[in-house]
Amino acid sequence: MSNHFQRYTVTAALPYANGPKHIGHLAGAYIPADVYVRYLRLNGKDVVFVSGSDEHGTAIPNQALKENTTSWAIIDKYDAQIRDSFYKLGMSFDIYHRTSEPIHHQTSQELFLNLFHKGLLNEEISEQYFDEEAKVFLADRYIMGTCPRCGHPDAYGDQCEKCGSTLSPRELIDPRSTLSGKPPVLRPTKHWYLPLQNYENWLKEWILVSHKEDWKANVYGQCKSWIDGGLQPRAMTRDLDWGIKVPLPDADGKVLYVWFDAPIGYISATRALFQEMAEGVKKFSSPQRDFGKVDKADWKKYWQDEETKLVHFIGKDNIVFHCIIFPIMLHVSGEYILPDNVPANEFMNLEGDKMSTSRGWSIEMHEYIEDFPDKPDVLRYALLTNLPETKDSEFTWKDFQAKNNNELVAIFGNFVNRALVLTQKYFDNKIPALGSLTEIDKKAILELKDFPSRIEDSIEGYRFREATALVMDLARLGNKYLAETEPWKLAKTDLPRVGTILNIALQISANLAVLVEPFLPFTSIKLKKMLQLDSFVWQQAGNLLLTEGHTLGEPKLLFEKIEDEVIAAQIRKLNDKKNAMELASQPVEPAKPEISFDDFSKMDIRIGKINTAERVEKSKKLLRLQVDTGLDVRTVMSGIAEYFSPEELVGKQVTILVNLAPRKIMGVESQGMILMATDKDGTLRLLQPTEPVSPGSKIS
Ligand code: MF3
Ligand code: ZN
Repeated sequence: MSNHFQRYTVTAALPYANGPKHIGHLAGAYIPADVYVRYLRLNGKDVVFVSGSDEHGTAIPNQALKENTTSWAIIDKYDAQIRDSFYKLGMSFDIYHRTSEPIHHQTSQELFLNLFHKGLLNEEISEQYFDEEAKVFLADRYIMGTCPRCGHPDAYGDQCEKCGSTLSPRELIDPRSTLSGKPPVLRPTKHWYLPLQNYENWLKEWILVSHKEDWKANVYGQCKSWIDGGLQPRAMTRDLDWGIKVPLPDADGKVLYVWFDAPIGYISATRALFQEMAEGVKKFSSPQRDFGKVDKADWKKYWQDEETKLVHFIGKDNIVFHCIIFPIMLHVSGEYILPDNVPANEFMNLEGDKMSTSRGWSIEMHEYIEDFPDKPDVLRYALLTNLPETKDSEFTWKDFQAKNNNELVAIFGNFVNRALVLTQKYFDNKIPALGSLTEIDKKAILELKDFPSRIEDSIEGYRFREATALVMDLARLGNKYLAETEPWKLAKTDLPRVGTILNIALQISANLAVLVEPFLPFTSIKLKKMLQLDSFVWQQAGNLLLTEGHTLGEPKLLFEKIEDEVIAAQIRKLNDKKNAMELASQPVEPAKPEISFDDFSKMDIRIGKINTAERVEKSKKLLRLQVDTGLDVRTVMSGIAEYFSPEELVGKQVTILVNLAPRKIMGVESQGMILMATDKDGTLRLLQPTEPVSPGSKIS
């Protein structure tokens, strides 16, 4: 384990600011990164923890198109939303930056020019698809066509979502532009390529040999298959009007490839952090963090000093960029250190299916916070105990409930509460004397001693699930200790013995407060308050931290039970969201053949008012309505009983076709037809004027 390092740069992938981020993202990168960083800080290490919004790439203008707004509006909206969610879930970034910031544009352009001037980028002209109507070169995502592998008619230029194959735009059959719908044409365009293949040997040495042992198998495996598959030159520029301008004279309309600039965002964020601290103006950096007196140039220590350990936390879809492309960029620049590790996680599924914001099958961070505002740690715990560290994992609401009720409440909370309440009851809320120790006591104290180093090993090895389980094991140890010693039975006969037991139980609680901090920071704060515990550092854990006579705070419940109804409501909400999304993505019915104005004017459509409404016997669908049409009051049979109760209809204005030939329905003559809007799922809605009008008003 390379834990001789004193200085750390820890990064968490910059999420695209093109939409909300879900709990799968949290489990993939952010929660493990945050635990790691909090642990390092408790250990007195010098850490910089950076992340921020990835605000370039086609994902942004794509979303702007969908929301009918500008790219700027999109990044401002989602940067604010994601930033707020991360903060509320306890992500302790030193800075959460934005790639739209000038300092990032500058840093990216500098690195590009550095490579360019060293002759490390190859200029090449190639043919790319161009939309003659929209007058733009088309990014891969803007080209759709038939998949050459599976025949799916709506494959994208970079990928077929049906069969999962990676594609290039030229492979699509019958390509079309998503902007104009027209077939695109090929046009020559110039781009700058990074010849990845030139660094194959270097990569083999660096990853396949040097990191064979310490990188996770899933990460190592992906790198190996990329390298073994042969590396290709990769364009570092794109034809796009959104992004960082290519800083060369003959590069109009060209921007840096988003995967060129985004990882440089880690460096820009660090620069911005030290600039803000040096100037004493905090904008993107954490108000909590104070590095003391710093110089603007100090960021360099975190990126250019071999004594700094660089760790990238990401999800598995980012592996190639962080293990191959970005390291090559750093390596050839000749100025930067390389990542010591890239502990990427696999994916977390949700209730038996892939998590996906676009399909509505997701729990977005902000949705969780809205529904459980006082439970950030419950989510952290449910995710931590279920991290997709070696293979894909699954989140279910039932498991979330079980983790809360059976572990956080029943073990952790229960143990701490018993120790505190009994101390309040028998010892006036002061830590009782330790007294003489029995075998059980000695064993508990001995076991306690072991926990910090065991948790440490797990964290240093990026096994956060295991580390979390160990913390819960410590609470279990406390619970078991109380169950075995039963202090509540001894109060009448042997109060000093009760004191000894509670002293030990409180020592375990204090250790929990320290050791749980990286995992459940909000709980740690609450517990420290109840114990009136000053801040302790990691190295002190394992020992007896509380002294006799120390007065405790007010005992409160650390966690509360989550009821079945709450869970059922979440599962319902999830299904509703998916159904709503499916509906929204269904096509509308095609238009009917054209008619003349005469055809239309034959229809006499009026606004009427419903006077009475009643159910029709033996019919689930029908209501019998008395409608005031202005001309008369007439009976209309209407098939709307599944959508409206008779009571809610009375007095409502409706749209009615009054000159439809009468017909008998269930033995009753229906004189006209109420017009309705039918939604994609068949739901019926009334058509009403926005303000009441007099019955008989004509519609034309
Ligand atoms: N925005 C990318 C994604 O969401 C991640 C970028 S990570 C960075 O997949 F290193 F490039 F910043
Ligand atoms: Zn396909």
